[in-house]
Amino acid sequence: MEEFITLDRAQFRNELEMLRGKSALEGLKARVRSLRDIIAGKKNDDLGVLAAEDEENTVRFKRSVLLRELDQVLEAYTLERACYYIKRLHRSLVATKTNGINDINLSRWKEYDHIITDSLWIIDRRDTSGAHLGWYWGNFIPQIPHQLMLRYTRRGDVVVDPFAGSGTTLIECRRLGRHGIGVELNKEVAARARELIAKEPNPYGCTTLLETGDSRTIDCEALLHAAGVQKAQLFILHPPYHDIIVFSGDQRDLSNAASTEEFLHMFGQVVDNITPCLEDKRYMAVVIGDKYARGEWIPLGFYCMEEVLRRRFTLKSIIVKNFNETTGKRTQKELWRYRALSGGFYVFKHEYILLFQKK
Ligand SMILES: C[S@@+](CC[C@H](N)C(=O)[O-])C[C@H]1O[C@@H](n2cnc3c(N)ncnc32)[C@H](O)[C@@H]1O
Repeated sequence: MEEFITLDRAQFRNELEMLRGKSALEGLKARVRSLRDIIAGKKNDDLGVLAAEDEENTVRFKRSVLLRELDQVLEAYTLERACYYIKRLHRSLVATKTNGINDINLSRWKEYDHIITDSLWIIDRRDTSGAHLGWYWGNFIPQIPHQLMLRYTRRGDVVVDPFAGSGTTLIECRRLGRHGIGVELNKEVAARARELIAKEPNPYGCTTLLETGDSRTIDCEALLHAAGVQKAQLFILHPPYHDIIVFSGDQRDLSNAASTEEFLHMFGQVVDNITPCLEDKRYMAVVIGDKYARGEWIPLGFYCMEEVLRRRFTLKSIIVKNFNETTGKRTQKELWRYRALSGGFYVFKHEYILLFQKK
């Protein structure tokens, strides 16, 4: 668990301003050493910078990050360099800089190491906390919507998931303070999901709405209006990987498409239907895996990507994520290995998170 430290904002700011005014490097470093020892818990707080968590006008830092910042000052060879690091720390205290589409304070970007920025996601353990029970065959791990919402939405924004399944996205919406609108074709699945979503605490008072219906034709605008908003700020699409898992006997279900072409056509219909509800310049994530059929690798991920790129979207990232084996596959693991060895192919261990920005 990352340890945080609470400081008295004004006192800490005064301290940094005083340090910036020092005229000799050694004097400055001696004072920084003292400050570092207080923050590391090695010394009594004779500078009065520490504060209790419940006090007003405080600032919270990740202890390790703040210590690293101070170490940088201590390692500086010149007074100018040391003052530059202090000035940067001071700025992180007084200024909030965001890119406008999330709540990440770029002035303190080093404190966000829980947010992934690499295109390879290896996530070994599913988050099973709270209402995330992982009961639905074909669900995704909650860390996917969690990461996407932190990067592409702000608190109070609206997220739409047109293949809502067990409601993983909507549960995560409640946790992170985003309004969530989901559509799910299967009414039994939607009913169970609604029950679980309702069990998840809603500390930010967000609206979570899960509608039963066909995302190719549902009135997305009406759903947004029902939630009291005009546009969504993020779409998360996790369609069936064609017929890898057949979710129902319903012909409107993408997993019942008769061919890859029909699957892509239906997927495109969903994108067309919901796109007008996404605010311009905002993001859409498509979580999709490939499939293997009749001796051939079918690159559903790339096909879906092409389908989206024919529309008003720019590709921002292709993320490769390790694939968690489903219960069904696990029992067949040996069989798949034998098939791969004899058939000259590789067993799927990854899926894609494709990120697009609306033009
Ligand atoms: C891969 S699952 C999504 C799982 C979800 N991310 C979760 O964590 O539970 C795809 C879902 O899309 C639903 N679905 C298929 N066709 C649909 C359509 N035309 N409209 C709405 N939902 C559809 C299926 O019933 C299935 O629950």
